[in-house]
Amino acid sequence: MRGLFLSFEGVDGSGKTTQAALLAEHLRGLGHDVVVTREPGGTALGAALRGMLLHGVGDAPIQARAEALLFAADRAQHVGEVIAPALDRGGVVVCDRYIDSSLAYQAGGRELAADEVRRISMWACGGLLPGRTYLLDIDPEGAMGRLDRGPDRMESAGGDFRSRTRAAFLGLAREDPDRFLVLDASQPRERLAALIRADAEALLSQERP
Ligand code: TYD
Repeated sequence: MRGLFLSFEGVDGSGKTTQAALLAEHLRGLGHDVVVTREPGGTALGAALRGMLLHGVGDAPIQARAEALLFAADRAQHVGEVIAPALDRGGVVVCDRYIDSSLAYQAGGRELAADEVRRISMWACGGLLPGRTYLLDIDPEGAMGRLDRGPDRMESAGGDFRSRTRAAFLGLAREDPDRFLVLDASQPRERLAALIRADAEALLSQERP
């Protein structure tokens, strides 16, 4: 795979969707072939799964293990249909959430065993990891206030869930400092965008195998 895979992670309302779009626009301006995509929902199958995951199906609550498997199914389709082909042709993939969201939300938030969530997710994505993950770190309660609509099923999981999720993200970043860049998401949007741009440009100037 000749391309560069970049992911954005963070709690809900951390601003990663905005930052992913700003980075993609900048890199396109430099002439790169950029694919901006997201999880869940980066494919037609994923869009159907996203509806189930964010709004539920029927009256019964979705079981935590079923939820983990649905996110993994979304990822398997997304890697095969979108991410791997773009990387194979030498493109830059900018992905709004990826495997670390499963580890932070389904293991951290829902308290499933982290090694099990990692195993199913790594199986689903064929072991493909981003070259860089931008973790937009922010106090989750403040971030919830930035949402411009009512909370969905995941966002309604409660304050304890949100603080476990944030802590899990930070733990993942500590375990893999070469892949993660942790950024303070409460700083002004343009300053944050400039830090991310500089890092991505440095990565793009490096030789890739
Ligand atoms: P996102 O698209 O970032 O939400 P929004 O459209 O509100 O910005 O993510 C949808 C939700 O799914 C979010 O609450 C995080 C959750 N999620 C998981 O719990 N596990 C996962 O593996 C992924 C990819 C997302």
